[in-house]
Amino acid sequence: MNMPAASVGLMVRRERHHRMEKRRVLLVGSGGREHALAMALTRDQRVELHTAPGNPGTAQLGTNHAVGAADVAGLLALANELDVHLVVVGPEAPLCDGLVDALGQRPCFGPVAAHAALEGSKSFAKEAMQAAGVPTAEHVIVRRAGALGDALDRFSGAPWVIKQDGLAGGKGVLVTEDREKAEAFALSAVATAGSVVIEAFLPGEEASMLVLMDASGYRCLPASQDHKRVGEGDEGPNTGGMGAYCPAPVVTPEVQAKVESRIVGPMHAHLCAQEQPYRGVLYVGLMIDQRGDPYVVEFNVRFGDPECQVTMPLLGDHALDWFTAVAQDNLAQVMHSIEESALLTVVLASEGYPSSAVTGRIIEGLNANEVTHTGHGRAWVNMAGLKLDADANPISSGGRVLSVTGMSDSLQGAADLAYARLSSLALEGAHYRRDIGARAGVQHPDIN
Ligand code: AMP
Ligand code: GLY
Repeated sequence: MNMPAASVGLMVRRERHHRMEKRRVLLVGSGGREHALAMALTRDQRVELHTAPGNPGTAQLGTNHAVGAADVAGLLALANELDVHLVVVGPEAPLCDGLVDALGQRPCFGPVAAHAALEGSKSFAKEAMQAAGVPTAEHVIVRRAGALGDALDRFSGAPWVIKQDGLAGGKGVLVTEDREKAEAFALSAVATAGSVVIEAFLPGEEASMLVLMDASGYRCLPASQDHKRVGEGDEGPNTGGMGAYCPAPVVTPEVQAKVESRIVGPMHAHLCAQEQPYRGVLYVGLMIDQRGDPYVVEFNVRFGDPECQVTMPLLGDHALDWFTAVAQDNLAQVMHSIEESALLTVVLASEGYPSSAVTGRIIEGLNANEVTHTGHGRAWVNMAGLKLDADANPISSGGRVLSVTGMSDSLQGAADLAYARLSSLALEGAHYRRDIGARAGVQHPDIN
C-alpha cells in the first residue's frame, strides 16, 4: 500500500531526527592525545563533546570543564550532572584510581582499576603476562634490599633493565650498563615503592600496538612507532614521546599474526576471565627481535601519546561507534573498516624538556583551526601543553607543547606535510626531532 506523501515526509524527518540525536560524551584529559580523541569523536555529527579539563584544542570542539583529570569525585559529579552517554578516559591516573568503578553503570571507554593495575604496577603486569603465557623478558621481583645483589648478578652481561613499581610518568625505567647506577636506582625503588622489577634486556625494534578490547572480542589498530628519546638517532633521556608514525613497517603481516596469536589473544582471554571484562584500549608495547618474534615490554591501559595522534584519524567518522561499542561489550558487532592512510606526528617541546620546561612563551604562527590541505594529504596541529593568554595568544604551558600531524598515502608524504607545517611555527628555545620515521625509511633533507 502506498503511503500518503505527507506521512512519508514525516517518517523521513523522524528518522533524520533519530539519527542526529545528540550523544553527550565526557572526555577526560588535557594532552595532545585528548585533542586527537576530540577530533576523532567530533567527526561524528551526533557528538556533543565535554572535556575535563581539556586544552585550547578541545575547547574549539566542545565545552571544557575546570575539573582535573585526577579528580575522580569531580569527574563523577560532572558525568552525572551532564548525564553523559559515554565517558572516554584519556590518561591512566584516573583509571588506576577507580574512576570507571565509581561511574558504575554509565558506559565507559576505559578499564576498571583491577585491570588498570597492568599499567599501575609492573610486578602485577609481569604476573598477568605469566598467567596468560605471553612472551616477555625473564624477570625477578625484588622486595628486599638484601636480595638485590643476586638479582643483578643474574642479569649481568647485558644492560640492566630496572623497573620501578607504580605509575612514574615515563620515568620509572632505567636501562643501563653501569652496575652502580642500576643498584642505586633499584635501591631507591625498593625504598619508595616496596618492590622493583629487574628483567633481561631485550634486543630488537620497538612498536606500539593499540588494541580495542571488550568481553565480545578485540580489534588491533595498525601498529605505530613512538620515538621515546629526546634526541635524534635515539640519543639522550627518555621522554613521554617525541613523535610517532603509523603504520610501522617493522610489524609485517607475519609479525602481526604472531602478536595476535601469542600475545593479544591470550591476554584477551585472561583479562575477560576476570570478574569484570577489560573494556577500553590495551596498549601493547612490543620489542620485535631479529627473527620477527614479538615480546611484551609493557602494557598501558590507555592510548599512547603521541601514538593516538597517528592512529585515531584511521577510524574515519566512526570513533563514537567504536568507543560506544567497547563500553557496551559490542565490539564484535562493529563492521566499520579502518582506513589505510599513513600518518606521522612531530612533537614540539619546550626548552629544557624533559628535565624541566621553560613555559609562558608565545607560539607564533598557530592558527588552531587550520588544516593544511594539499594534493597529497593534510596536516594539522594537536595541541597539548599550551594555553591562551588574556589576549588569546597561544602560550606554552608544558613540556610537550603541541604536535604537528601529517596524513597522506605514504609515510614520506605525511612527514613532508608535518615538517612543512611545523616550519611555519615558532617558539623560542623549543626543540623537536628532525628524524621522525627514519627507521621506516623516511628521508629528512634537513639532516641528510
Ligand atoms: P617501559 O616503561 O616498560 O615501556 O620502559 C621504557 C623503555 O625502556 C621502553 O620503551 C624500552 O625502550 C626500554 N625497555 C624496557 N624494558 C626493556 C627490556 N626488557 N629490554 C630492552 N629495553 C627495555
Ligand atoms: N608514547 C608512550 C606512552 O604513551 O606511554
